[in-house]
Amino acid sequence: MCGIVGYVGPQNALDVVLEGLRRLEYRGYDSAGVAVLAEGGMATAKKAGKLANLEKALVEEPLPAATIGIGHTRWATHGGPTDRNAHPHLSADGKVALVHNGIIENFAALRAECETAGVEFTSETDTEVAAHLLASAYAETPEGPGRLAEAMRAVSNRLEGAFTLVASHADEPDTLVASRRNSPLVVGLGETVDGTAEYFLGSDVAAFIAHTREARELGQDQVVEIDRTRGLTVTDFAGTVVEPTAYTVDWDAAAAEKGGHAWFMLKEIAEQPQAVADTLLGRLGDDGGLVLDEVRLSDQDLRDIDKVFVVSCGTSYHAGLIAKYAIEHWTRIPVEVEVASEFRYRDPVLDRSTLVVVISQSGETMDTLMALRHAKDQKARVLAICNVNGSTIPRESDAVLYTHAGPEIAVASTKSFLAQIVACYLVGLFLAQVRGVKYDDEVAAIVEDLRRLPEAVSEVLLQMEPVRELGRSLAGADTILFLGRHVAYPVALEGALKLKELAYIHAEGFAAGELKHGPIALIDQGTPVVVVVPSPRARESVHGKVVSNIQEVRARGARTIVIAEEGDEDVVPYADHIIRVPRTPTLMAPIVTTVPLQVLACEIADTRGYDVDQPRNLAKSVTVE
Ligand code: F6R
Repeated sequence: MCGIVGYVGPQNALDVVLEGLRRLEYRGYDSAGVAVLAEGGMATAKKAGKLANLEKALVEEPLPAATIGIGHTRWATHGGPTDRNAHPHLSADGKVALVHNGIIENFAALRAECETAGVEFTSETDTEVAAHLLASAYAETPEGPGRLAEAMRAVSNRLEGAFTLVASHADEPDTLVASRRNSPLVVGLGETVDGTAEYFLGSDVAAFIAHTREARELGQDQVVEIDRTRGLTVTDFAGTVVEPTAYTVDWDAAAAEKGGHAWFMLKEIAEQPQAVADTLLGRLGDDGGLVLDEVRLSDQDLRDIDKVFVVSCGTSYHAGLIAKYAIEHWTRIPVEVEVASEFRYRDPVLDRSTLVVVISQSGETMDTLMALRHAKDQKARVLAICNVNGSTIPRESDAVLYTHAGPEIAVASTKSFLAQIVACYLVGLFLAQVRGVKYDDEVAAIVEDLRRLPEAVSEVLLQMEPVRELGRSLAGADTILFLGRHVAYPVALEGALKLKELAYIHAEGFAAGELKHGPIALIDQGTPVVVVVPSPRARESVHGKVVSNIQEVRARGARTIVIAEEGDEDVVPYADHIIRVPRTPTLMAPIVTTVPLQVLACEIADTRGYDVDQPRNLAKSVTVE
């Protein structure tokens, strides 16, 4: 939520910063702004709305050339999405320019303090207070190297909540400083050309991937100083120098381009076979055992587990709901699935023998992070499933399994969802193996089923034209309902979520059996109802019951859209439209049945003329609670 870019180096700072903002726009698009430190002092430009508005304004009124600059793309929290509330914010003397991601929880008290000291605020944001505090802390800090970083530490120690701050000061033309607590920030190290080094700051590596893949990961409560002559220095908030963790980004700039697709979302839907394959890659060790990326838990710890919680938000929560079916089935350990924003407030019963699996594409979702910390406070073991290397959630977890879906730019999750399901299944198999409830060859057989999935997803993708056509015909609907049973139930929830967030159509997902307990009253003549049909081989005739549910809604006037596997003829008499998916084992079906629902939502949104990649009111990385 909110994208931040910073640059120090030989290139034109404005070009680098704008390019970084373009790649981070998925993090928020309520406004955008930049500040460059030019010879004549600080120069800023900011505009409400998408980055394109700012770029247009910059053509009309260009900023002076400079080699140090910062930029911001905003998802509004405090104060509406206006020019005035756009970042960067300036100190009263105009010397400090500062951008912020997060929420400063004690901003009201700090603002009152500044106002008492005579500062006049120009915005309604929580951020502006940090710009004023930095200016006064700088004035109070003795001259000398590291002065701005020292001032930033003083300010950071006074702030409560979540913040990444990046700032520059007109009196320090060679320095950029940044600070982070509970919000993300990474450093990129460019090449040194003719003795001039180049540094980038970004909310994530997408900000600078076009320039470098050499990155430094920052820890919690750290301040970064980038100085043209002294280079990079990282300290904690007390001023003790710390060594940031170095890593090389394992994807390149092309991965963050649309690659000929009309939308990033379409590209990411098309990348799903690869995302599933890559998430499986290298997971089976030479001894037939499964390999996790980082496990700071002993086999005994895992054997002692008597309960699993899966905690996550939105689409990641739906992946957790699907995982429950598999993990319970394979391990016989009870699994509860919860939305992260509710988890800690209801005081769940957790102890050392509880495993909490947190799932997050971004690794920065504040609700999930807070749930993770609550679980750790209660001594539970935490295992993270995450797509972004080195992000906060995996860093704070006891064990990590990375999904290798690659960068996901469209705000709506697609490929990371499929990769999360696969990763959750691997965790289930890992537990089953460590606890000895499945033989290695049984695990290997299920992994083989998983390995066949990329091909099955590719097959589905080849048959999407009729789905797109159907989507166009549904673009005028007011309500679309989604039904499913067993693992198809969370798929129905995910189908409804995709439609809500992209097409702004009222959509609801239901357990098909629940329909008769109330929601069936929603069905009117012509109401589209999408039914995700479980495998005919699923247990206890669940398939037959869903076929009956299709008949029930159709008898009440519904237009039935049925997703069923090849060869399932039972559904034919009751389906107004059939979308076929390849035959897969029962628990693997969500990997294929989700795909047409993603395509459907995308097509409906596109037909309605909406921005598929950047739906209104949303942001990709939700770093506020
Ligand atoms: C929906 C979507 C969101 C995210 C949710 C969690 O398409 O993208 O519902 O799934 O905000 O985000 P992560 O997985 O980054 O924790």
